[in-house]
Amino acid sequence: MSNSLLVKSGTIINHDGIEKADILIDHGKIIDIASVINPSSKTTEIIDAHSKYIIPGGIDPHVHFALKTASGKTADNFYSGSLSALAGGTTTIIDFVTPEKNETLGDAFFKRKQEAESCLVDYALHGSVTTWHDNSFADLKNCVEKTGITSLKVYMAYTDSIGLHKRDIEKVMFAAARLNLTVLVHCEDDMIVKNNQQKLIKEGKTGAFYHHLSRPAEAEINAIKEVISLAQKTSCIVYIVHVSTPEGAQLIREANAEGVKVFSETCIQYLILDNSLYNNTELCNNYILSPPLRSPAQKDILFKQLSENTFDVISSDHCPFNSSQKSNSEIMNFLQIPNGIAGVENRLSLLFHHGVIRNKIGLTDFVNLTSTNAAKIFGLYPQKGYIGKGSDADIIIFNPQDKHILQKEKMKLAADYCVYDGMEAAVIPEILIIKGQIVIKRGVFNIKNLKGKYLRK
Ligand code: URP
Ligand code: ZN
Ligand code: ZN
Repeated sequence: MSNSLLVKSGTIINHDGIEKADILIDHGKIIDIASVINPSSKTTEIIDAHSKYIIPGGIDPHVHFALKTASGKTADNFYSGSLSALAGGTTTIIDFVTPEKNETLGDAFFKRKQEAESCLVDYALHGSVTTWHDNSFADLKNCVEKTGITSLKVYMAYTDSIGLHKRDIEKVMFAAARLNLTVLVHCEDDMIVKNNQQKLIKEGKTGAFYHHLSRPAEAEINAIKEVISLAQKTSCIVYIVHVSTPEGAQLIREANAEGVKVFSETCIQYLILDNSLYNNTELCNNYILSPPLRSPAQKDILFKQLSENTFDVISSDHCPFNSSQKSNSEIMNFLQIPNGIAGVENRLSLLFHHGVIRNKIGLTDFVNLTSTNAAKIFGLYPQKGYIGKGSDADIIIFNPQDKHILQKEKMKLAADYCVYDGMEAAVIPEILIIKGQIVIKRGVFNIKNLKGKYLRK
């Protein structure tokens, strides 16, 4: 990228402070930040950012593009998913490698990286462990050396397919601690969920509404308790994904206070949507995800906990399906509805609107939650997640006063519906720069020559 851009007079918000300054960008990197920088003969474009905020491009460390499920692949592949991401100001994503039961993580990694070739934004990959056997440690070590993976995901739910039982999760955590890897955990107690599922189905309670009753708060709370005790036992660094209950978040907070390193992530949906949506029989299927949406009161407490710095990251867990996949005529019961919703495109604008504009979180918190903390936790900082000399020029410029109503037909995601359609949100980004290229300018996209790179963390 040989464009030399000068961004003038904006308010730069980083996790560690706010300053009004000019930013000089060259060859895709930020090369200078100062109170006044004058254009040179090399300057190809000057952007007036007076009265605008400038923040690091979003990092969403929890997305599922082209995820294979029993209901077919998720609606977004790496191309459309990354287009959707950048349309909402996310300039780096982290997706997952999920090996088949008979496949090594290393083999699955290279296949997944091939699929990710069409990604428009820079990306990294978390490994997932879906089985554990005698050769697993050697495979893992080999994979880490070859690929630069620094994080692994395990699922306490879904033990019939990709999930692991507690004894194997413990082995993964011991191995991860030896290899210096962070373990991401999907915390839902599979026994509780399975028992509820069986009971509900036996009673003829098969409709989509019953999905959330089968996955109550206690399933998440029990699982979080177990994971915290495993983290203590194994000294493994843990990152709990999509925390949906205030009780679970409180447990993590207490563990941290006692010196057990557990990072916590919640998702935008758990902060602004609630389980009253499951009463809408016509649209209920479209809101099915795991863990499910919680009560309005739980949602409000979760937001309060966010204001008290309980969470490290707000992700989207972007996992969209088309309505035909969510509600096809072959679905006999709620177990067959694919789990997941979209959100990568709306995460920043909704969090700014509900969090910053409504005075629940500060500006530097916003940057930490949407970008910097993920960069630090997953080894991408300060190349990503920071506006500073030497960092990649991934930059969002926006007017904090602007708001609009989100409209599905204007979104880039490939799925045919979005649960946030019709909601009020901030306008983020107004201008988006990725590695020095102006990719969005007031609704006009220029993604020519844009190509995401795999980030060795
Ligand atoms: O329902 C969800 N969240 N689907 C995506 C996969 C996962 O469990 O994170
Ligand atoms: Zn999950
Ligand atoms: Zn997920």
